[in-house]
Amino acid sequence: MRPNGTLLITGGLGFLGSWTVEEAVRRGYRVIVVDALTYAANPDNLRELRAGFIAPTVRHIWSPVRYEGERGIPLLRPSDSDRFEPSDDVRSTVEKFLDSDLDVLTLLSSVEDYDLMKLLMEYVDGVIHLAAETHVDRSIEDAWDFVRAEILGFYSSIDAFRRVKGTSGKFVLVSTDEVLGEIMEGAADESAPLMPRNPYAAAKASQEHFAQSYMNTYGTPITIVRPTNAYGPRQHPEKFVPKIILNALSDEPIPVYGDGRQRRVWIYAEDVAVGIMDVYERGNPHEIYHIGSDDEMENLELVRRILAMLGKPESLIKFVEDRPGHDRRYALRWERMRALGWSPKTPMDEGLRRTINYYRERYADGSSIRR
Ligand SMILES: NC(=O)c1ccc[n+]([C@@H]2O[C@H](COP(=O)([O-])OP(=O)(O)OC[C@H]3O[C@@H](n4cnc5c(N)ncnc54)[C@H](O)[C@@H]3O)[C@@H](O)[C@H]2O)c1
Repeated sequence: MRPNGTLLITGGLGFLGSWTVEEAVRRGYRVIVVDALTYAANPDNLRELRAGFIAPTVRHIWSPVRYEGERGIPLLRPSDSDRFEPSDDVRSTVEKFLDSDLDVLTLLSSVEDYDLMKLLMEYVDGVIHLAAETHVDRSIEDAWDFVRAEILGFYSSIDAFRRVKGTSGKFVLVSTDEVLGEIMEGAADESAPLMPRNPYAAAKASQEHFAQSYMNTYGTPITIVRPTNAYGPRQHPEKFVPKIILNALSDEPIPVYGDGRQRRVWIYAEDVAVGIMDVYERGNPHEIYHIGSDDEMENLELVRRILAMLGKPESLIKFVEDRPGHDRRYALRWERMRALGWSPKTPMDEGLRRTINYYRERYADGSSIRR
């Protein structure tokens, strides 16, 4: 038995999920990950931890797990060096894991599998829910996957938690600043109304509505965190910062939406993970916490900064048609996190340097960028 007990982290093979798993293990938790291994997941993200994988053993309600990357992203198949253990008996696998010296057990399944989620709730002390579809552009093309992952997936997770744990334990929902919509002046505190303006944000806001209703109706001990825009190693190459870095490294045009003057607040992924774990450990149930920073800048400024760090010319910037409904600005007040003793620690230049190094090392061979 670990001093800090067992945590269920959904979406743990993704970007922020993997940073959160790592931070939880560092703090002495043992972690069960449930991840559907979508295109955005990468088992490499957890490879440095002593982790066990088991194959999809349970129903995938909406779609089969896809093991292969698309659009030039490297293969995502767990390698032979992982302890890859097909099993159709999740209970005995979980019990074996809890008897072992492994830090992490990864179950390749959708959180939509309600029976699986109920079974896992018997073994964990708390849940951090990050599983989601996360690329706004994709949600504008077609939001079905977002409705499934965010709404059905979250419902399955929170209802399994309520039925098994009642009002004991802790459940942290990782939401986003985007649920508040555009903030043109000043910054929004945790009481601001939900005003989602794109399908991704609407799906995330739906999670918050369910969470609020469960707190009110059943007293479920849920805490909501809303991080601002995160960047750092392990983010999927379709996202803005990796795209800037990878395109610049291979001297390809860097697409910038509209006039590039949309403003975002940036925060390094590790700082977000520390904030999520601080909220898990010290946050109040039924409270919302904004995980923000003071690094606000226009998208164009961010591109210029990265180009300068890489010694690449600004002529690589290519303005492209803006995406529909593109929010001009997000900005959060985060005094509540400060009161909890948290603040971001990584200066932007340092965070960008680490991020650039990660993508440079990982994709040094240009061919692997666009396989
Ligand atoms: N990255 C950011 O800047 C940011 C900012 C604020 C909030 N968030 C929130 O943080 C969470 C994680 O974001 P991210 O950027 O790490 O995302 P990501 O796309 O990198 O990872 C998402 C992970 O969830 C998994 N997943 C998707 N659907 C699933 C399902 N049905 N069942 C189980 N697993 C599933 C994917 O396989 C992937 O591993 C999301 O909830 C997102 O809304 C992210």
